[in-house]
Amino acid sequence: MNHPHHRRLLITAGPTHEPIDAVRFIGNRSSGRLGVELADRAAERGWPVTLLLGPTHLSPSDPRVEVRRYRTTDDLAGLLAEHQPACTVLVMAAAVADFRPILGPGVLEGKLKRSGEGLVLRLEATEDLLAACSARRGPGQFLVGFALEPRDRMLSSARDKLERKGIDLIVANPLETMEGRTIEAVVLGRDGSSHRTEGAMDKREFGAWLLGVIEGAVGVRDSRTMD
Ligand code: CTP
Repeated sequence: MNHPHHRRLLITAGPTHEPIDAVRFIGNRSSGRLGVELADRAAERGWPVTLLLGPTHLSPSDPRVEVRRYRTTDDLAGLLAEHQPACTVLVMAAAVADFRPILGPGVLEGKLKRSGEGLVLRLEATEDLLAACSARRGPGQFLVGFALEPRDRMLSSARDKLERKGIDLIVANPLETMEGRTIEAVVLGRDGSSHRTEGAMDKREFGAWLLGVIEGAVGVRDSRTMD
């Protein structure tokens, strides 16, 4: 396959795990499937790809995908700071925690004891990683976010997030997408464009479809036509 891309694609995928103590965490139901499929399809199409992958049992099958693993929102923030400068397109498919437990001294080293009084956890807001990436974006860098929303306010929330985070494209999808093998999505562009999947699509197929939309937006020719 030809490599028409001097550009690099950076993808984040999977949940975050925020520790409660040495053995427990707060997480979410994200499998990372969508981002992993996207990474595989992109590698097949000739993109150099870096995948920042959270705690999930899935991993890409294409050996050309460069994988770095993270666990917490903070780990991911560090990896993004390291890898964002080299990318042309960032696809932020990770289901990043919005809150994390505030831990007292030494709590991370041990296991909290059961007590009859129960346990009160205090949470603090995490950094909005995508907004941070947007604030320090390099010239020509293209940023794609996701908005997982209840169906009834999917489009309005997605539009709002597109503006608030200062990104170029947002993939709006209903809450059920999180654990499923399929996705039904509407992609909204900062330029007012919108693309809609025809009903529910397998996440593998969706990866290729979304890449087509992104390549159209950043002006990349489909490498398969050059074989
Ligand atoms: N995101 C992020 N950092 C966070 C939370 C979310 O970068 N701390 C990213 C997600 O990866 C996704 C996008 O922001 O691409 C939207 O995530 P979502 O959780 O839907 O948005 P929030 O910013 O959390 O907005 P709200 O809680 O108001 O729905």
